[in-house]
Amino acid sequence: MEGSILRPAAEQRYAQELAALEKWDAGNRKPQGWRLSPKAVRLFILGSRTPIEGVPIRKKYLGNDALVERCIITLAGNRGLMLVGEPGTAKTMLSELLTAAISGCSTNTVQGTAGTTEDMIKYSWNYAMLLAKGPCREALVPSPLHVGMEKGILTRFEEITRTPAEVQDSLISVLSDKVLNIPELGDGGLLFAKPGFNVIGTANTRDKGVNEMSSALKRRFNFETVQPVRDVALEKQIILSEVRSLADAAGIDRPLDEEAAELLATTYHELREGVSAEGTRIEKPSCVMSTAEAISVYYQTLMGAWYYGDGTMDPKSLVDNLVGAVAKESNEDLDKIANYFSAVVREKARREGGAWKTYYEARSRLK
Ligand SMILES: Nc1ncnc2c1ncn2[C@@H]1O[C@H](COP(=O)(O)OP(=O)(O)O)[C@@H](O)[C@H]1O
Ligand SMILES: [Mg+2]
Repeated sequence: MEGSILRPAAEQRYAQELAALEKWDAGNRKPQGWRLSPKAVRLFILGSRTPIEGVPIRKKYLGNDALVERCIITLAGNRGLMLVGEPGTAKTMLSELLTAAISGCSTNTVQGTAGTTEDMIKYSWNYAMLLAKGPCREALVPSPLHVGMEKGILTRFEEITRTPAEVQDSLISVLSDKVLNIPELGDGGLLFAKPGFNVIGTANTRDKGVNEMSSALKRRFNFETVQPVRDVALEKQIILSEVRSLADAAGIDRPLDEEAAELLATTYHELREGVSAEGTRIEKPSCVMSTAEAISVYYQTLMGAWYYGDGTMDPKSLVDNLVGAVAKESNEDLDKIANYFSAVVREKARREGGAWKTYYEARSRLK
């Protein structure tokens, strides 16, 4: 069955790893309501050097191990966890992995938008049943917060700051008292959360100010800032490992072009930092130069090569896809990339030749 789903949930994708960790986990301390111990959750996300119960555990989040450890501990306590940071820094990925490992379910999720209402967070009603029977448990349609409390699992709240502040605030009483009041049900209308329940929110710093979070709600969360990867070699490794798993899933069985990953990792890194490795200042584009974008540019190029050619990555289409990714926001960004090529890539091409030279020669695509 798994093969027939476009993007299986994390707990399905990693079912084997999770089962092995569960077996291995027997003697470890576990918070109430958790499927795995904090130690096993950590191993699941940060990987294991040696196979666990014969199953290799891949490192999934690269960068800050201590951040992951703190996130896990926060979730065992009575405050929620709020992951904040630039888009594309793996906040969603972390929240999926954490919920899959801790609760065995990563899909109990509210997607925050400007149109999110309290109904979508707490509960709504099946109106036919409501008319027939009046307010009763059967007529209640639970939303992710209700589900989380009832089953004792984590509830994810994606991009929470995009929702109106008064809707966000409906979380306050639930997070502090761990009880949801359903006034329509009268005396029996209190839902007490089971152990294992907690909330993971994510928020993009670029959305901040759209709806500032109330300080009352902020106090119910521990905030962790997820920083963009600061190291070119690491970013290259992330690009290669993520593209590898995308390619495997798509049946693309060619070795990946490491030089192309190096070019992209360097380009994204230098444009994000506003300065090249050689110390040349560069104007930063206004668009998001995230690792996630770099991955998608690489993968796009790979697919073009795979379906139209013999699978060899072409620097020209790499630049084409880079242009596509960058030009979404503004034409000025394109000029900045063009300047980057003439100031930085040119110099690297002159000194290092090789892939940098072909990359530089493909610059005509920037027009
Ligand atoms: N530090 C990292 N380690 C592993 N993968 C990363 C890292 N940073 C970004 N990625 C990749 O970028 C993708 C997009 O991240 P996502 O979770 O959607 O970001 P966000 O929610 O912060 O916008 C991830 O699925 C992963 O492939
Ligand atoms: Mg996200």
